[in-house]
Amino acid sequence: MWELGLLQYSSIMNINRDPMFLLSLLLFFSISSTSNAKIIPRFLSKSNLPSTDSLSVALKQNNPKYSYETKYFTQNLDHFNFNPQSYQNFSKGDIEWFAKNTGFMFEVAPKFKALLVFIEHRYYGKSIPFCGDKEVASSNTSTLGYLTSTQALADYATLIIDLKKNLTAEDSPVVVIGGSYGGMLAAWFRLKYPHVAIGALASSAPILNFENITSPYSFSNIISQDFKSESANCYEVIKGSWKQIQNKAGQPGGLEELRKSFKICKNYINANALEGWLQTAFVYTSMTDYPTPSNFLAPLPAYPIKQMCKAIDEGRERNDTFAGLYGAANIYYNYSGSATCFNLSDKSDPHGLAGWTWQACTEMVMPTDGNNEHSIFPPSKWNVMDRFTFCKALFDVQPRPNWISTEYGGHDIKRVLKRFGSNMIFFNGLRDPWSGGGVLKNISESIIALVAEHGAHHVDLRFSTKDDPKWLTEIRRKEIEIIQLWLHQYYNDLHL
Ligand SMILES: *[C@@H]1O[C@H](CO)[C@@H](O)[C@H](O)[C@H]1NC(C)=O
Ligand SMILES: *[C@@H]1O[C@H](CO)[C@@H](O)[C@H](O)[C@H]1NC(C)=O
Ligand SMILES: *[C@@H]1O[C@H](CO)[C@@H](O)[C@H](O)[C@H]1NC(C)=O
Ligand SMILES: *[C@@H]1O[C@H](CO)[C@@H](O)[C@H](O)[C@H]1NC(C)=O
Ligand SMILES: *[C@@H]1O[C@H](CO)[C@@H](O)[C@H](O)[C@H]1NC(C)=O
Ligand SMILES: *[C@@H]1O[C@H](CO)[C@@H](O)[C@H](O)[C@H]1NC(C)=O
Ligand SMILES: *[C@@H]1O[C@H](CO)[C@@H](O)[C@H](O)[C@H]1NC(C)=O
Ligand SMILES: *[C@@H]1O[C@H](CO)[C@@H](O)[C@H](O)[C@H]1NC(C)=O
Repeated sequence: MWELGLLQYSSIMNINRDPMFLLSLLLFFSISSTSNAKIIPRFLSKSNLPSTDSLSVALKQNNPKYSYETKYFTQNLDHFNFNPQSYQNFSKGDIEWFAKNTGFMFEVAPKFKALLVFIEHRYYGKSIPFCGDKEVASSNTSTLGYLTSTQALADYATLIIDLKKNLTAEDSPVVVIGGSYGGMLAAWFRLKYPHVAIGALASSAPILNFENITSPYSFSNIISQDFKSESANCYEVIKGSWKQIQNKAGQPGGLEELRKSFKICKNYINANALEGWLQTAFVYTSMTDYPTPSNFLAPLPAYPIKQMCKAIDEGRERNDTFAGLYGAANIYYNYSGSATCFNLSDKSDPHGLAGWTWQACTEMVMPTDGNNEHSIFPPSKWNVMDRFTFCKALFDVQPRPNWISTEYGGHDIKRVLKRFGSNMIFFNGLRDPWSGGGVLKNISESIIALVAEHGAHHVDLRFSTKDDPKWLTEIRRKEIEIIQLWLHQYYNDLHL
């Protein structure tokens, strides 16, 4: 590993990097804000995580030939301003964590003889401007103002062009790949920088999850459906639990009983915090309901929703709702078995994702908080003013709910892109709550929607395993086939 300047990126060097690059935008995971304005997801604190395996160890487990190198690149702080003050360097999301969860790229790169490059998004992980000083970088709206998707896309373009020049590989085609927010960036990159990337694989990219495009109820409808699909009882128990928790908490000694039932640490409990903690477990398990064991947001078994519902159904049999709910939460928060108690005031951010709160308060106003009468969560209405109030208090900033669709489009996407865009794949798994804001229909010959009924959040990008269901293998096969076609066309055009 060596440090050059500053925007961190990793390249996978074992691969014969001759005819092309396969480039990945950082896989970035989107975050839901549940009804209690919980914009940052709840991660296991470091102490509850299994011993941290490094990226190189994880890669070697999958294939002893995989290796990588970390480099730094100096960026302009402000690509859109010629004021010399804007030429500040970056300095030193946890890019290794993302890389570990994107095995697909490692597996396909050799097929394409590709160099694989992971570029870290500004303000995440180590790519912090203001000489790497997180505190300075996040001090106020003028220092945080450089944290935007447009700046990040310009970072990627600058880096890719420079890297190709350094490698004397100007003619090598670039394909951008990303998942979640990274998938949105991949799609937008293709639209804004078609001269830099010949195509984009946008996995679970909710580019339509903005106001007046996608219903604010779709997110929780999908989660509700996920649990209902395992068992009607499971859905009903969860749906009824919020009232039970409130009732119990209102009784004398009730909170202490709840603390015991859910093994909550002594430091802090109240009913809303407990509910938020449970809701987080349900939301993120829906996102990561993968068909094989995983360790993305938390270590989880295969089909974790099924496991959660099993615990809840067992609770019902024993006439003990709370025991069932505890069992379900235990799967998300304690699958490794190392938690001694659950800490409701723990705001761990082991992957350095705090910058998302700023993004959610500026451009990324993604309505997901609506809960209708069928929702597994307590009924609530999406009201953009709640976000305004939250953001005013936290950053003294006013969100721009219309900016993303102004900058990148979104309304009538089919009509717009069928005459304008090309070479994009949108993958969505319908069990993923974000799929409601995804592109689910083919737009043209070369803007393809791949939809997996049983898929979860960017499941296609994970390392393949021998236990993968057929549909997943098939999705990956199609993705590779389509990318191959883009390359073929590119080389044809190049040699005309
Ligand atoms: C920015 O990078 C340049 C070249 O790498 C270096 O000379 C300069 O000292 C850096 N400035 C800051 C503020 O880090
Ligand atoms: C914002 O923070 C930076 C760095 O801490 C500081 O230099 C600047 O004066 C602050 N600006 C405002 C408007 O407070
Ligand atoms: C390209 O090479 C120059 C000079 O060595 C270096 O400063 C720059 O960071 C390199 N670019 C990338 C993307 O590695
Ligand atoms: C279940 O528990 C409730 C309250 O604790 C009790 O009223 C009810 O009789 C129990 N039902 C069964 C089948 O044990
Ligand atoms: C975590 O799981 C272990 C092993 O199953 C169990 O002993 C422990 O009590 C659990 N921790 C909590 C807080 O429930
Ligand atoms: C819970 O988390 C908070 C915040 O991280 C920490 O200060 C506190 O010590 C933790 N309490 C326990 C019992 O782990
Ligand atoms: C959505 O539509 C409503 C009703 O037309 C309008 O009041 C609101 O401003 C729109 N929101 C956005 C972000 O465009
Ligand atoms: C889009 O077209 C491709 C073939 O070109 C097909 O495999 C895929 O299933 C179609 N997607 C949808 C959502 O119909």
